[in-house]
Amino acid sequence: MKTMSWTAKQLILLDQTKLPLIEEYITCTDYQRVALAIKRLEVRGAPAIGAAAAFALVLAALELSAQQLSYSEFVNQLKNCQQEIAAARPTAVNLFWALEKTFALTATCQTVAELITALEQTALSIYQDDVQANQKIGEYGAALFTEQINILTHCNAGALATCGIGTALGVIKVAHQQHKIGMVYADETRPLLQGARLTSFELQQAGVPVTVITDNMAGWVMKNKMIQAIVVGADRIAQNGDTANKIGTYSLAVLAKEHQIPLYIAAPISTFDFSLVDGEAIPIEERSALEVQSIQGVATTPPAMPVFNPAFDVTPAAYIQGIITEYGVIQQPTAAKILAFRKQHQL
Ligand code: MRU
Repeated sequence: MKTMSWTAKQLILLDQTKLPLIEEYITCTDYQRVALAIKRLEVRGAPAIGAAAAFALVLAALELSAQQLSYSEFVNQLKNCQQEIAAARPTAVNLFWALEKTFALTATCQTVAELITALEQTALSIYQDDVQANQKIGEYGAALFTEQINILTHCNAGALATCGIGTALGVIKVAHQQHKIGMVYADETRPLLQGARLTSFELQQAGVPVTVITDNMAGWVMKNKMIQAIVVGADRIAQNGDTANKIGTYSLAVLAKEHQIPLYIAAPISTFDFSLVDGEAIPIEERSALEVQSIQGVATTPPAMPVFNPAFDVTPAAYIQGIITEYGVIQQPTAAKILAFRKQHQL
């Protein structure tokens, strides 16, 4: 089962809104369909959104190439498409990172044909680089654990959210290969149940022992010493290590601090937003009230009940034990440590 594949100038996406009950694929032949898939969470997770957006720009360029435009007019039109794709979701910085990286090629290419080739190659390398980054994150993360432990994770930061084995779930999968995993507790992750539907499914398929809990059980699981570490992914990390991730991560971090349980963030460098001093300015997506008023189409509140539905929260760096990247682990992240890490690895 593959989260996305690029074949014959089409992007095939696994429809994650239907998992785990139905395995269905969406064939995207135009960029608008990819943007819609990102909006609907048919493709989701920061690195996967980034890669999908890069392929969407290739589709946009292919479509525009039929119009015989001058190169400068072509680039103008492509910019509009880029902005349309970027508007799909606001929080995961990988979306903007991938679109900027691919659109920047317009300045170095001279012809439409040259640009299309470069866009496709770059989209493929964004995908491939993420596969490798996931593997490295998995290895650096697994090395943090010296004995068998139980881990709690939130949302889905696995193969379904990336191009490779996953970030948080990459750490868990590599640790499992090294016989270091007793049990993984997967938070259900209301409102859209990425934990109950996707993480449980992905870990089950990978043969990793997994138990689902509802989000409000996490504190009790910690109190009863049922987990020794928390590993989650990220959607955007500021210069100082403040981290936006799926709503509920902040609550876990506060509980973890109380119970002296280390919370690790596993994320590639593409998830850092070095333009932001701290997490204050990270845009938090608010999604449809329907997601809280119902579960998979079945109403759970009185009709039209007002709800608040932020899709992400920001965990201050002070609550984070370490950020696991493809270049190594930044322990107890601060602005100074992250800057030194960037210098050391020329990032
Ligand atoms: O709304 P989603 O499902 O796209 O949210 C995903 C998350 O919050 C993930 O934890 C994050 O993107 C990291 S995925 C490797």
